[in-house]
Amino acid sequence: MVPKEASGRPEKLGYRKLTLFFMSGTGNSYRNTRWIESEAAKHGLEAGLNLVPATHPASISVERETLFGFVMSTHGFTAPWPMIRFVLRLPRGRGAHAFAIVGRGGSKIGNRYIPGVEGTACYLMALLLMLKGFNVRGVMAVDMPANWVVAYPAPTPEKAAGIMNRARTRTLAFFARILEGKRSFGGWIGLLIGFLLVPISIGYLLVGRFFLAKLFFANNDCNGCGLCAGNCSYGGIKMKGGEKPWPYWTYNCESCMRCMAYCPEKAVEAGHSWAVILYFVSSTSVSMYLLNLLVPYTGEFIMNRWLSRSLEYAYLLASMAAAYWLFSLLLRVPVINSIFTHTTFTHLFRRYHEPETKARDLL
Ligand SMILES: Cc1cc2nc3c(=O)[nH]c(=O)nc-3n(C[C@H](O)[C@H](O)[C@H](O)COP(=O)(O)O)c2cc1C
Ligand code: SF4
Ligand code: SF4
Repeated sequence: MVPKEASGRPEKLGYRKLTLFFMSGTGNSYRNTRWIESEAAKHGLEAGLNLVPATHPASISVERETLFGFVMSTHGFTAPWPMIRFVLRLPRGRGAHAFAIVGRGGSKIGNRYIPGVEGTACYLMALLLMLKGFNVRGVMAVDMPANWVVAYPAPTPEKAAGIMNRARTRTLAFFARILEGKRSFGGWIGLLIGFLLVPISIGYLLVGRFFLAKLFFANNDCNGCGLCAGNCSYGGIKMKGGEKPWPYWTYNCESCMRCMAYCPEKAVEAGHSWAVILYFVSSTSVSMYLLNLLVPYTGEFIMNRWLSRSLEYAYLLASMAAAYWLFSLLLRVPVINSIFTHTTFTHLFRRYHEPETKARDLL
């Protein structure tokens, strides 16, 4: 039970306000944030919700009596890049209290709940907030319905509801501990796994998220309405073409799955057969072959480790962008579009967004 003043405000730590920052692709983290907001209201704490990336970090005023909460999903076994960038740009915390909640992709097989893997997400957030001068009171990873439909199907609505119920209970218990003035740090096994997966997380941040952005395409059911572009918080989609425009995914895409979840025609796919081609085009063997062709002209200079790595990276991004541009033109031919549509699993996979969350709640 949280002790309260006559005003209903938790008295132990004297918080006057709760400022919540959330980043959410398909509504899980948004729902989590709303649970905390309602619970805070019961304790007389006025909460302000701020969407990442729409909020400008420099506009945040940090006061000691404010409790700061950061709610996000897991991407690539770590915290998502937009949240990392946001925290790095925040003003100094000057000892203000903060906590972080990371939603991971949980599923349910039969009656068994299968946890996701948050990896380094929680403790990376804790570290960044500490370095920014916040007094970190706790971090928690919580299983929410898995939304990464590019990799595997989303849980059925019934299973998702079960996962959400458990998540709500866990989130509110964690928040109660924070309000009681207790520190709450769990997830050491997740962190241990996260350490082992650090190379994958770095690969995800440097390359994976760009590769994933270039897997998206619209199938023949797309009517060019442009909702997907309007619903994206990152400017990840440009509508191309005149009379019947089509969506074109750019490197700004953070693979949050929102466009896939909310397209009224279920037209957004991630190409699995296309992924194989894109992997080959952008693979190291191809770039090494091209670099070797340059050696007679540049001698040992090109073999300098850092230079060749930088060239490889530049080749990777440029080759994926060029290949995707060509791919997007080919997709205008209905029969080619149909071939790629029927050779991706996402055509069969269930879409997911948190059922009560509208796309406009996330903008
Ligand atoms: C690109 C991408 C990568 C993901 N990586 C992980 C992961 O490494 N571990 C995990 O447990 N869940 C992972 N997930 C699942 C989400 O973190 C999880 O479903 C989360 O609750 C989604 O929240 P949101 O709807 O607020 O975006 C990933 C999802 C996406 C879209
Ligand atoms: S992909 Fe869907 S939301 Fe986007 S333009 Fe096509 S029909 Fe509209
Ligand atoms: S383009 Fe789609 S998946 Fe990418 S960030 Fe925007 S809404 Fe999310």
